[in-house]
Amino acid sequence: MKIAIINGPNLNLLGKRETDIYGNTSFEKYLNELRDLFPSVTFYYFQSNIEGELVTELQHVGFEYDGIVLNPAGYTHTSVAIGDAIAAIKAPVVEVHISNVHAREDFRKLSHVSGKSAGSIFGLGLKGYELAVRWLLDRS
Ligand code: DQA
Repeated sequence: MKIAIINGPNLNLLGKRETDIYGNTSFEKYLNELRDLFPSVTFYYFQSNIEGELVTELQHVGFEYDGIVLNPAGYTHTSVAIGDAIAAIKAPVVEVHISNVHAREDFRKLSHVSGKSAGSIFGLGLKGYELAVRWLLDRS
């Protein structure tokens, strides 16, 4: 089972960024925990602050991997192109948000990604990534 995790802008700062909202753990550290939890899964991790790079990566892994866990971060709320990329690819995408986007500013309630994804998880912290991986494993 090959699962790609794709994180959008500013998620390279997890552990340093607004720690009251996003916590104290870096994604690299959390990814090691995920690898330990799911030894049978081959994980690929990609993070970018650039919208077009996220689209290109989705196009690439979307025909190679069994599933994608995607947190498009701020682009969730603005990017038609990322929504279109999800619709274009074969692999199922689970949208994950660390924070509860529906309990924050109104602009975070709009997602160009939810309607194109197999499902969405928000507000459960980093645990959301683990739950997304479990769902992808269960359906395989
Ligand atoms: C986020 C929520 C987004 O609204 C925000 O722009 C992010 C992170 C989350 O994981 O909670 O950068 O996707």
